[in-house]
Amino acid sequence: MQPPGPPSQKFELPNIQYLVAVASGKGGVGKSTVAANLALALVKKGKRVGLMDADIYGPSIPIMLGIGDVDPQTTTFPIERHGLKAMSMGFLLGPDKAAVMRGPMVQKYLLGFLTQVDWGQLDYLLVDMPPGTGDAQLALAQTAPVAGVVVVTTPQDVSLNVARRGVQMFRQVQVPVLGVVENMSFFIGEDGKRYEIFRHGGGRKLAEESDVPFLGEIPIDPRVAECGDQGEPVVHRYPDSDVAKAYLALAETVDQQLRHGTQPKELPEVQL
Ligand SMILES: Nc1ncnc2c1ncn2[C@@H]1O[C@H](COP(=O)(O)OP(=O)(O)OP(=O)(O)O)[C@@H](O)[C@H]1O
Ligand SMILES: [Mg+2]
Repeated sequence: MQPPGPPSQKFELPNIQYLVAVASGKGGVGKSTVAANLALALVKKGKRVGLMDADIYGPSIPIMLGIGDVDPQTTTFPIERHGLKAMSMGFLLGPDKAAVMRGPMVQKYLLGFLTQVDWGQLDYLLVDMPPGTGDAQLALAQTAPVAGVVVVTTPQDVSLNVARRGVQMFRQVQVPVLGVVENMSFFIGEDGKRYEIFRHGGGRKLAEESDVPFLGEIPIDPRVAECGDQGEPVVHRYPDSDVAKAYLALAETVDQQLRHGTQPKELPEVQL
């Protein structure tokens, strides 16, 4: 079987300056949380930002942004919340229903979210990817004008190994990897001490090994989960917290990299 390569033609999104995917090899590492908080951190920097939930089977953006009970018949999309524009399969299905559809249908929805939703003029459209390196990721990477991918990992070895596969997949289809973020990096206890619960430094190591930039560390903070469940991401609810500052720094790094062309390194051929 031929390994996937770059497509000959991608569609254009003339109103969107930077389409940025937030991805990982593995589930549960905090992609959706990073995507939502990075989006809000960019809003805080004065950017016009959209957040598209590409997790068709397990959308979590509606809960994270506190958008429930949407009547798709009477709602115009995207939905605005906390200063950003959002679109998710969860808005079309309701919070308790699961999407039952095959791959080609999923790709149709993703394409529709990108091209048929009236995003208006945006500086950033962040895409919260489903876990893994499956069809949805590949289709998006091959057909959408993705400016770059932020790869999220946790410090453990297992997470890093799968994150490495994620980096490789995007490289193979020649989508620039903006870099690696290490989520749940460390925990600062009430005693002020730093605890490295899942070990530490793996994200940096992965970035070095893969020859992509290391974008930073996000600490573990129980408020992150609490805020996510309550529909107001931590950057919005606790803007002065250390974890919010880490997201703001991440937004700055990503923005600098895209605007000032700290070019991701030349991409070597990688066999999947
Ligand atoms: N830095 C953090 N500190 C504390 N909790 C966190 C942090 N980052 C994420 N979490 C929590 O970890 C859980 C998983 O996060 P999230 O849903 O963002 O992961 P995901 O990678 O998008 O998962 P999936 O693969 O299922 O889409 C959530 O409950 C979230 O609130
Ligand atoms: Mg998710």
